Amino acid sequence: MEISARLSRRRFLGFCFVDGSGLSYFALVPRTIYLDYNATTPLDPAVGEAMQPFLHEIWGNPSSVHHLGRKARAALDEARARAAHFLGAKPSELIFTSGGTEANNLAILGTARALKAKGKHLITSAIEHHAVLHCFDYLEKNEGFSVTRLPVNPEGRVAVEDLVKALQADTIIVSVMAANNEIGTLQPVAEIGSLCRSRGVIFHTDAVQWFGKEPFTDLNQFNADLVSLCGHKFHGPKGAGLLFIRSPLHPDPILFGGAQENERRSGTENLPAIVGLVESITRFLKIPVFDKSRLLPLKDQLENLIHSIPGCEMVSSKVHGLSNTVAFVVTGTDGMALMAGLDLEGICASSGSACSAGSLEPSHVITALGKRDAANALVRFSLGRETSGDEINQVIKILPEVIRRAQLNGKTASGW
Ligand SMILES: Cc1ncc(COP(=O)(O)O)c(C=O)c1O
Repeated sequence: MEISARLSRRRFLGFCFVDGSGLSYFALVPRTIYLDYNATTPLDPAVGEAMQPFLHEIWGNPSSVHHLGRKARAALDEARARAAHFLGAKPSELIFTSGGTEANNLAILGTARALKAKGKHLITSAIEHHAVLHCFDYLEKNEGFSVTRLPVNPEGRVAVEDLVKALQADTIIVSVMAANNEIGTLQPVAEIGSLCRSRGVIFHTDAVQWFGKEPFTDLNQFNADLVSLCGHKFHGPKGAGLLFIRSPLHPDPILFGGAQENERRSGTENLPAIVGLVESITRFLKIPVFDKSRLLPLKDQLENLIHSIPGCEMVSSKVHGLSNTVAFVVTGTDGMALMAGLDLEGICASSGSACSAGSLEPSHVITALGKRDAANALVRFSLGRETSGDEINQVIKILPEVIRRAQLNGKTASGW
């Protein structure tokens, strides 16, 4: 079937199809409005361009001793040096990983195992990403560590006084994220970091959602020993991340094999992805690619609407929140119905995390805010570089009806 024409509408895209027998069809498809930038961002064309030579010409293995390998090695070293210079670290303090999940796993599992002779108490917060929380769960269940999970206030912030109370003589790691992925809350990481430093405790921050959204000068601003980031959250490639490890800390490896990355992370380096990651780091962090001055008015518009819809309650913080994240819960329905309703209108949003069965798990973040009953009915809009005022106006027009329909279905299904 051949597409012979494409018509643009405000809310729909029109397609004309001609099949093999010459019959033509017309279809209206909802226009895609992508509001899921905290899940991932599209690859920036210039970043894609920078990766090209490493997909086609310089494809050698950086560990090979022949000239193709040496060329790849030189490019890898140069990428690391560029990233280090830009981030304010030594090249030897950066480990390239397959993304944020691996960076967090290496930081937590590797450091806990390396320092277990010093102590076996670990601290994190209740609203971390699963790539952090599940590492702590694992260490507690299988390796004899004890874990304190700090509570958060109704806007999702950790209180430094709670951390002071939780620190013990045998605490070896504190891990608190810089910005939350579901509700966008910013944590007082610099303060937490300096407290940890004064107590001789290693501090890790998962800054995967923070980079590209908040002003960055250099890695010292976190006062952290370990910082995780990944490229696909700021228009870099997927499958590429980085862990900053302040020297002389030396986490145990979690991947064993060829002893790459200075014996700290085995596996042939993904050079195209690393080059793309470094390109996106140098382009999109110092002047954050998520432009607050453009995004905040759009966020305000959405928030004003949400406040006016019956049964909706904002859960993203107005004061300590990312400028791109609008999160709210809805009574009388659930995340799956809301996501399906939005998707039918072409709107991509998010709700908690998908489980392997293709349904949605209740959000542990909303539960930690003290709203357990609403943990199944979270909606997250995360705006980004390509989000336009016109798109937000469309969402504002459609959203009350999508919510009303989902609530109506919820009522019918549960008799509520
Ligand atoms: C806060 C946070 N940490 C870690 C991750 C995992 O990153 P990746 O998808 O690169 O493994 C994500 C991804 O959504 C995230 O939001």
